[in-house]
Amino acid sequence: MKKRIITFGTYDLLHIGHVRLLERAAQLGDELIVGVSCSKLNLSKKGRAPVYETSDRMEIVKALGCVDEVFVEESLEKKGQYIQEFGAHILVMGDDWAGRFDQFNSICSVVYLPRTEGISTTQLIGDIGEMVLPATGTS
Ligand code: CTP
Repeated sequence: MKKRIITFGTYDLLHIGHVRLLERAAQLGDELIVGVSCSKLNLSKKGRAPVYETSDRMEIVKALGCVDEVFVEESLEKKGQYIQEFGAHILVMGDDWAGRFDQFNSICSVVYLPRTEGISTTQLIGDIGEMVLPATGTS
C-alpha cells in the first residue's frame, strides 16, 4: 500500500523554503498531496490576498517533481475531512504550527518539519517593495 502524505499552505511567490518543505515531506512516503489555500482563506488567515491567484499557485506547486496531487483548501476547519478524503497516512506541517494539529494523531501521524530560516512570502513582498530599481534607458 502506498504511503500518502498530505500538507497545506498558500505557496504564494514560490520560494526555497516552500520547495525544501515539500521535498522533505515527499521523502516521508510515496505520494505527496498538497492542499493549496484559496485566496479567500489566505485573506482571512494572513490579512492580505496572495499575489498569485489560486489556480496559478496550484499549477506552480503541481509542476514540482516531488508533488503528486494538488487540491484547493477552502477552510482551515476541513483538515480532518481532507485527510480522510485523500486517505493520507501522514499530515506534514511547518513547525510554525507545532502542536496545533495534534488532534489529528487519531486519524494519521502528524509531523512538524522545521522551516527554512530567513525567508517567507511576506518578507519577499516587503523586500521587493523596498527595492530601488535602476533607471532604464539611455540618454
Ligand atoms: N515554509 C518553510 N520555510 C519557510 C517558509 C515556509 O518550511 N521559510 C513552509 C511552511 O511551514 C508551510 C509551507 O512552507 O508548511 C507553506 O507556507 P506558506 O505559509 O505558504 O509560506 P510563507 O512563506 O510562510 O508565507 P507567509 O509569509 O505569507 O506567511
